[in-house]
Amino acid sequence: MFVKTIKGLNGVLEKTSTGICLYKHEMVSEMASPIRVAVTGAAGNIGYALAFRLASGEVFGPDQPVHLNLIEIPPAISALDGVEMELDDCAFSTLAGVTKVDSDHLEEGFGDCNFVLCVGSVPRGKGMERGDLIRINGPIFTNTGKAIQAAAAKDVRIVVVGNPCNTNCLIAMNNAPDIPRDRWYAMMMLDQNRAKTQLAQKSGQPVSSVSKMTIWGNHSATQFPDYFHAEIGGTPAPEVIKDDAWLQNDFIPIVQKRGAAVINARGASSAASAANAALDTVKSIISVTPENETFSAAVCSDGSYGVDEGLIFGFPLQSDGATSKIVQGQEHNEFAQQKIDATLKELREERDTVKDLLN
Ligand code: NAD
Ligand code: LMR
Repeated sequence: MFVKTIKGLNGVLEKTSTGICLYKHEMVSEMASPIRVAVTGAAGNIGYALAFRLASGEVFGPDQPVHLNLIEIPPAISALDGVEMELDDCAFSTLAGVTKVDSDHLEEGFGDCNFVLCVGSVPRGKGMERGDLIRINGPIFTNTGKAIQAAAAKDVRIVVVGNPCNTNCLIAMNNAPDIPRDRWYAMMMLDQNRAKTQLAQKSGQPVSSVSKMTIWGNHSATQFPDYFHAEIGGTPAPEVIKDDAWLQNDFIPIVQKRGAAVINARGASSAASAANAALDTVKSIISVTPENETFSAAVCSDGSYGVDEGLIFGFPLQSDGATSKIVQGQEHNEFAQQKIDATLKELREERDTVKDLLN
């Protein structure tokens, strides 16, 4: 494939022998070299909410330029043109450039990327479970994994948002065997944020007082929001709330089914809160986790807590600013263990359903 570059006033237009047309909008920057972030499904609801906050400096800081690689299916490329126009119109000083790529050319899309946010996929509708999307969205993640391995930066970290996110992440990871397994994350942060707010509202305390809120297992209706290890103002949540019936019978299902409640109310799945959670996940990965805090994401199990090695499972994590480790030593009572076993069983079943996509 050849690449012909035509320099313009504000960037370069690259025409290739395979007909790809990439417009790379480069802005001169005297700051550090840009961090490159790919977002798939960038013209969709979550992608649209993500792009501007990534470009604004909110995530990587005011002195760190960001180059966005925005990826969409071919019919949505013109919508992506509009996203780029709006990014231009924000005049973000931290936005070093935008590269738009269609999903038939994923290696260009992931080229040299330090972070890949995998959003592009179909959302569920009313009455569906996220797992119902497995055979629709799962196949997207085989090529995604292969292209990330072929083209991304050596330090790439990947956050999978598209549902069912744990198993999509499993598929991508298995199609990229050369990428270290500790680079893969599936998003549990939206559940964590939902759970924190429920505990804060019930206790009448600010949401900032809720810590160590772990979501174990699958981002699905079997997830286990572990209120036993959560704290409110440094005290175990059950001791503050003093209402075990509410915690068991209301809190858990509210968090488990919050995505469906949003779909029923809005007629579309969560978008702004999902984008916010994706950014919270990236921030948690690149920051040192405070000693008395954990964050939730689904990562590749190393066998901790009896979870099958290789499954993408929600755990309590701590990051050193580069790598996240599963927090060890949390004990579970019989009730909690049953919940963890149920979500583990579901993830094993999902893994079996996509066996043919695992390479
Ligand atoms: P959306 O339909 O608004 O946007 C999805 C975008 O992805 C569309 O623009 C579509 O063109 C694009 N797309 C589809 N296939 C693609 C591919 N192969 N490559 C690149 N782009 C592709 O949907 P949305 O509301 O943005 O949701 C996206 C996904 O995120 C859904 O699967 C949804 O269920 C999931 N989600 C996950 C969480 C979570 O907590 N993990 C939260 C909310 C939504
Ligand atoms: C959510 O939790 O809001 C998302 O996973 C979307 C959905 O399908 O529930």
